[in-house]
Amino acid sequence: MKQQVSFDFQLLTSDNELDLALQNLLAAARSAVALSYAPYSKFHVGAAILLQNGEIVKGGNQENASFPAGICAERVALSAVSSLFPSEKIQAIAIAYTNAQSDEMDENILSPCGICRQSILEVADRQSDEIQILLSSPAGKIILIDSARHLLPLAFSSSNL
Ligand code: THU
Repeated sequence: MKQQVSFDFQLLTSDNELDLALQNLLAAARSAVALSYAPYSKFHVGAAILLQNGEIVKGGNQENASFPAGICAERVALSAVSSLFPSEKIQAIAIAYTNAQSDEMDENILSPCGICRQSILEVADRQSDEIQILLSSPAGKIILIDSARHLLPLAFSSSNL
């Protein structure tokens, strides 16, 4: 039997189309790019997490001379949340980047890697509340997704164990 997976998302062309809380969150993700340590890829990523208490926690990708030891901005920010606000739920996560290898204003919208999708989903399951995802391009395009779950169809989770 043929099955299909699809989901709705919003494609926006300006920050003004977001509500104020998400505008601030995206600004935080852009500023978190400065936390990135990416001397190898020169792909600088910033993530900002909005907690249900209104706090914002930021992280940048941290690379390593031993390449696989590097960690994405999203998981740096998630780990910071689990240390700083262990009992606070996550409402949304925004990501932004600059690519020092490219001179042009980049139109590409950054989307989290598979490991980060899996990690975000674990938190969503654990807190029994959906996590919104805000993706962006340096040129200003934005994608808003209501639930991180949409980014990992047929996901592996604790229910499989
Ligand atoms: N990276 C992130 O931090 N987040 C993403 O969503 C995609 C990729 C990092 C990992 C690595 O340091 C660099 O970007 C290039 O892959």
